Amino acid sequence: MLGFSRIDGGLHCEGVALEGIVREVGTPAYVYSAGVVRDRYTRLDAALSAAPHRIHYSLKANACRGVLEVLRAAGSGVDVVSGGELFRALRAGFRGEDILFGGVGKQEHEIREALVAGVKLINVESEAELRLVSRIAAELQVIASVGLRVNPEVDVANAHRYIATGERGHKFGIPVGEAEAVGAVALSLPNIALHAVDMHVGSQLSSFEAYRAGTGRLVELSLALRKAGAPIKYLDSGGGLPVPYAEEEEPDLGAYGRIVTDAANALGAELLVEPGRFFVAAAGALVTRVLYRKETGHKTYLVCDAGMTELLRPSHYDAFHRIETLAAPHGAMVADVVGPVCESGDFLALDRALPEVAPGELLAVHTTGAYGYVMSSHYNARPRVPEVLVDGDRWALVSARETYADLVRLEDPSPEWRTT
Ligand code: LLP
Repeated sequence: MLGFSRIDGGLHCEGVALEGIVREVGTPAYVYSAGVVRDRYTRLDAALSAAPHRIHYSLKANACRGVLEVLRAAGSGVDVVSGGELFRALRAGFRGEDILFGGVGKQEHEIREALVAGVKLINVESEAELRLVSRIAAELQVIASVGLRVNPEVDVANAHRYIATGERGHKFGIPVGEAEAVGAVALSLPNIALHAVDMHVGSQLSSFEAYRAGTGRLVELSLALRKAGAPIKYLDSGGGLPVPYAEEEEPDLGAYGRIVTDAANALGAELLVEPGRFFVAAAGALVTRVLYRKETGHKTYLVCDAGMTELLRPSHYDAFHRIETLAAPHGAMVADVVGPVCESGDFLALDRALPEVAPGELLAVHTTGAYGYVMSSHYNARPRVPEVLVDGDRWALVSARETYADLVRLEDPSPEWRTT
């Protein structure tokens, strides 16, 4: 059984009762289904079969070692955007050729680390960055394999404005009109091999038109770059595949696959894709305990032990996450499901129709495997919560709950005072 379902009234992840897990690890806790991650990998891989391709899971969505190992075993590479993510990827067993290195603000040491690791591509976002990569590659006496991250300037109207990235004037990528000129600079630099063009137009894209328009522009640009002498062998169409959070439909992978594989085949290039959310969102639930039920004015609040520190998406993006009781549901109520943090913006759901919930009960906040734990914070000095991986009828604590000592680990109570 994949993902989350009810067996004998109680909510399970695959074959394991969530209640049993949190009896051991406490709440709040993130629980991930390995089976869901594998299944989604297999389905996307099949949808891309019309072209030579490699999937590079965007590690920013969920960087948990257990999840990374599931994807690596399935055949995935990764897309990383910082030295820290590169470090995590290498530790989880990915090799240089499995790794794409992106990001709009790469630091010198990060570029050096990526070159030392021998990453498949550094996707550069400006001419200045290209020159920096070239200088560091010269110092290291290597040839940097580079892609140009291009902003294709397409309409991404259906993405939340915080996560649309491929429209004119966004901070990401090289504006499409300048990309040929930056390509010419790449060709003039001795330590650069221009192997790819890349885009990432946004996240949670419910229409695929941006992929069609964007990859069309990338193909045109690549042909021009090839004519100028660039050995372009990869077309990287980025991430952005949507997942249903409420009642939406699953994306039509066949339609998506046709758009991006057609583009790669038109160019005669290997297709690279970088989805993150698609693999992990539905694989995860945040389990939280209701501490108090509070009636104030006309409102009912369920005050939980998880909030914006564990799951920022509701307060940051107004995101909707389905909530279920772990126990068999009965009755009905409407409540604001809120966290313990001292902010009015600290909520998991507003005016939510739920079954009757009493203090002490457990809730599962669904579709939180992507951009959940990775965006958590220590605000209000709250230790990070544990992560659990379920596979069939077994489960493992893959990342432990932080302790109070972890919160102050880097503090020096008697620092050395200096004057320079
Ligand atoms: N590639 C690049 C260059 C990216 O910037 C991103 C995501 C991805 C791939 C993966 O996108 P995905 O397939 O997961 O949509 N925190 C937000 C999402 C931010 C996405 C940032 N970039 C959220 O919670 O919705």
